[in-house]
Amino acid sequence: PTTRRYDFVITEGQGWPDGVVRDMLFINGQFPGPLIEANMGDRLVVNVTNKLSANSTAIHWHGMYQNGTNWFDGTTGITQCGIPPGQSLVYNFTLEQFGTYWYHSHYGMQYLDGVLGPLIIHAPDEADVRHLYDQERVVLIQDWYHDVSTVNLETYLAPDNENTEPIPDNGLINGMAYFNCSSYDSNSGHTCFDNSTYSVLSLEPNTRTRVRFINTGGFTEFELSVDNHTLSVIEADATLVKPVSVHRVPIHVAQRYSVILETNQSTSTNYWLRGAMMTNCFTGDNPVLDPTTRAVISYSGNSTVLPSEGASVDWTDALPVHCIDLEESNLVPATQNPPPGATKMWRIDFSFGIGAYQLDRAKVNGTSWSPLDNTTTLLQAIDGLSGSGGNSHKTEAGSNNNNSNSSSWAVDGPIEAFGSDQFVVGVSTTNNNQIDVIDILLYSLDEGSHPFHLHGHELWILQRGAGPFNWTDYHANTYPANAPRNAHALRRDTFTVPPYSWAVVRFVADNAGLWAFHCHIAWHLEAGLMMQFASRPDVLAKMAVPEDVRGLCAAAGAGGGS
Ligand code: C2O
Repeated sequence: PTTRRYDFVITEGQGWPDGVVRDMLFINGQFPGPLIEANMGDRLVVNVTNKLSANSTAIHWHGMYQNGTNWFDGTTGITQCGIPPGQSLVYNFTLEQFGTYWYHSHYGMQYLDGVLGPLIIHAPDEADVRHLYDQERVVLIQDWYHDVSTVNLETYLAPDNENTEPIPDNGLINGMAYFNCSSYDSNSGHTCFDNSTYSVLSLEPNTRTRVRFINTGGFTEFELSVDNHTLSVIEADATLVKPVSVHRVPIHVAQRYSVILETNQSTSTNYWLRGAMMTNCFTGDNPVLDPTTRAVISYSGNSTVLPSEGASVDWTDALPVHCIDLEESNLVPATQNPPPGATKMWRIDFSFGIGAYQLDRAKVNGTSWSPLDNTTTLLQAIDGLSGSGGNSHKTEAGSNNNNSNSSSWAVDGPIEAFGSDQFVVGVSTTNNNQIDVIDILLYSLDEGSHPFHLHGHELWILQRGAGPFNWTDYHANTYPANAPRNAHALRRDTFTVPPYSWAVVRFVADNAGLWAFHCHIAWHLEAGLMMQFASRPDVLAKMAVPEDVRGLCAAAGAGGGS
């Protein structure tokens, strides 16, 4: 194993990924941020320096287990306080997994302004698929807004907005896209450079490329396709799957897919890579939006010409019948890894408040998350469980002194001590002396489509449905420990809950820490669509958070915070 060191300097400035100038954030002056590539078992050491003028920052390594290093999960208010302007934090953890991941700021909605990038981990375990491709490319796709996230948030939270998310102005692929400047008239307030262009993937004819797609956006689900080429899906969120050949791949916010693309068509043209936005989740129109985000696949020998009309044809136009869209239920893991039986089940309902005074908040079992100031639920849990009430740690400002009764912390279920804006469910408690295997029945009472992510774990996707949940079927087939297990259940870290439907997902609660479980739509997270699991209180009580991480909370308390 190697130690891989990176320095990330977060700065603000103006950028124009699609020609339209706006205030943005950069990592080392770049957007998207640098590609981190490593091998499983390596140690990743990233020194993050905040050079922003007013806001804190924190970097989350999306999908990493962080087993034994929960404090480096990068989740503001849960595992760390933000890094204040002018300060640094060195993230230092072992890469225990392989596959396609990414990293992003987990401070408010900051990643939408540019603090994100790909994290690719290789491993000998990939040998089984390595013969399927000759080279790799990483493709980030995301919705894009011509205003900064805080401006959009104000719109989203405005009275009378009825939970209508801002509609993107454009989509980007690898931080680039074309935009027609004449869409804005001269008094739009936007400066637009006319030379915006598409990202190009230059490949050799008759080769096979593993394209690693990552949706790094804030709201929009895309359907990915390449004109005239079928795509063979081999990975879903770092789980290798038996190849499935499709025309289109739906990818929701924070999800990843690897596909094999063979350059086996005519070399007389280039081809469009299309990301069709699923606009059915948009409320209203945005007249400047072209809902198909594009890049160019080039193996014609001339990467500067655009695909020719009539030769590069969208599958939706080319096919007499429906496109074959990837369905998650058709994905079978390449290696069978059936889930252990569940020991507990938690039903989690979520919705957005209805009624004039609740429109701006999401409700998770009646609670709505908001970030803590000057402390984290991790520090509160450690101090509460160890009975120190925070007083033994002078660097921790603002610790909650009600937490001194350690018995109120070792709870199997919702932990009252955190209060209603920190909905924390305790699992794998000491009393039963076992590692819990948790089923979550996640029930959406909302008309949108929500990509849910659990930090620090992979989830088995066991059941999905709409309408009333069938408890008889669940008890017969899924739960408890001795029920038959689906050896083909897919495991991933971000799954979609369609409108008014439910999903049963399972995880092994063996990873000590405070783990966020939330909708990855940036507006929804900001509106409180988040809860946490507190795992292994026995280990948590003794967890030694490094002083530099604790110190961030003291710095925040001293006025450097949110
Ligand atoms: Cu991509 Cu809470 O994270």
